[in-house]
Amino acid sequence: MTDIATLERETLAAIEAAGDERALDEIRVAALGKKGAVAELLKTLGGMSPEERKEKGPQFNGLRDRVASAIAARKARLEETALDARLQSERVDVTLPAPEIPRGTIHPVSHVMGEIIAILADLDFKVAEGPDVETDDYNFTRLNIPAEHPARQMHDTFYLKPQGDGSRPLLRTHTSPVQVRTMLSQKPPIRVIAPGRTYRCDSDATHSPMFHQVEGLAIDEETHLGHLKWVLQEFCKAFFEVPQVKMRLRPSYFPFTEPSMEVDIQCDRSGGQIKFGEGHDWLEIAGSGMVHPRVLEMCGIDPARYQGYAFGFGIDRLAMLKYGIPDLRPFFDSDLRWLKHYGFSALDIPALHEGLSR
Ligand code: DAH
Repeated sequence: MTDIATLERETLAAIEAAGDERALDEIRVAALGKKGAVAELLKTLGGMSPEERKEKGPQFNGLRDRVASAIAARKARLEETALDARLQSERVDVTLPAPEIPRGTIHPVSHVMGEIIAILADLDFKVAEGPDVETDDYNFTRLNIPAEHPARQMHDTFYLKPQGDGSRPLLRTHTSPVQVRTMLSQKPPIRVIAPGRTYRCDSDATHSPMFHQVEGLAIDEETHLGHLKWVLQEFCKAFFEVPQVKMRLRPSYFPFTEPSMEVDIQCDRSGGQIKFGEGHDWLEIAGSGMVHPRVLEMCGIDPARYQGYAFGFGIDRLAMLKYGIPDLRPFFDSDLRWLKHYGFSALDIPALHEGLSR
């Protein structure tokens, strides 16, 4: 039988040398496990005489206890070392500058759309939508632009392939067909705006084949030009964030409104910059008018009972004016440098209570 002192010395040395918890567990099994050296020793107690057992019992039990507590102590130390190593490797220097996170920006058109919606929603307009691919009927005919009407030529329309029934779908040339869709699907009182993409075969510094408009429509039993003028005035003040905007309504012609007006606002162009709410220059910003009775009729609304007003703004143009963007073409180039310069933070959500553009 191994000498107890040697067994103890060797076991304790092995425990001390164990490099990790697995190695330590192997030592535990070899010493204290069912068939371990210490357990085997304890088993021999059964075959001993009472005197011998009295002498060896405490020795064996003492050995078992010392080995067990050495294992526990070593285990605690190994755990501590492992934790230290982990903490060391996972260390974060909180004093370092934050890494630069690649960041997208909100396109000026999306941002300005958000601003327009915030302002007009506050004036009780709901957002309405329509598809980019429209029917001739909704884009033209029901807006009082029948076939062969000269206004059709002004729109430089993109037509799609003719359908089986001979009709030709088109890319909507304005957001006005959303007026038609709204009147056909809702009963007055109606108060909607329709921001969205529009298309015309036209391209230069101020025209793009795809551009954006927002349409406004209000229909009720008593709507008149004064309401229209007030809404446009409130819109311009809120959008350009100035206390006063002088506005001028110029007689014009649109087939779907009667009377029709173009809306100019006062501005100052001196010094190569444009300022609103002052100066002696005028800038055209919208088309508008009272909805033509024939349009109401063609959209299922009784013109003897209801009147309405409508208006249309170019969103890209509003964005260029407000944020001093000189050329329209880069709006649609997806140039990251331009987007970074003119784009908005994702957290810069337009809201009236915080000041529109803060
Ligand atoms: N649809 C017109 C265009 O694209 C803009 C417009 C003018 C809209 C007058 C209107 C309006 O609602 O009343 O040029």
